[in-house]
Amino acid sequence: MALEKTTVIHLMNEGLEMEYASQIQYLTQAAITRGPYAEGLLARFEEIASDEAEHAKLLRTRIVALGGVPTTKVGQIQIHKDSLQAVKINLKYERDTVDFYRKLLNLIPHDEVILYEAIEHILQDSQEHVEELERLVGK
Ligand SMILES: [Fe+2]
Ligand SMILES: [Fe+2]
Repeated sequence: MALEKTTVIHLMNEGLEMEYASQIQYLTQAAITRGPYAEGLLARFEEIASDEAEHAKLLRTRIVALGGVPTTKVGQIQIHKDSLQAVKINLKYERDTVDFYRKLLNLIPHDEVILYEAIEHILQDSQEHVEELERLVGK
């Protein structure tokens, strides 16, 4: 399997847009969260936001390494003032993210080691985010 550079760059830019949106979403939700569980939620949201920033950096670097131009677009952001609803929105988003990166990883040959490991790392973190959020909604 050869690396389809144009397709992969395009998808990584789609991922980059989502990472930017998700970082802003988590940070905003961290700032507005209120209620008995605010401390824990704030800490978790901020921790995940810093993972999203790292994912964006990995994507920017790999896009440039493939000869592409990293997007500056920001994807759709959803904020909810109710903390539990916010967690549910994030959980849906993270599950979609897992599907997205799983498909992207399947397009990358294993011998493209740096690229493969970068996307695998982002996929792993996204699966961790799903687990952490599932715990917050009591699943
Ligand atoms: Fe991410
Ligand atoms: Fe995430």
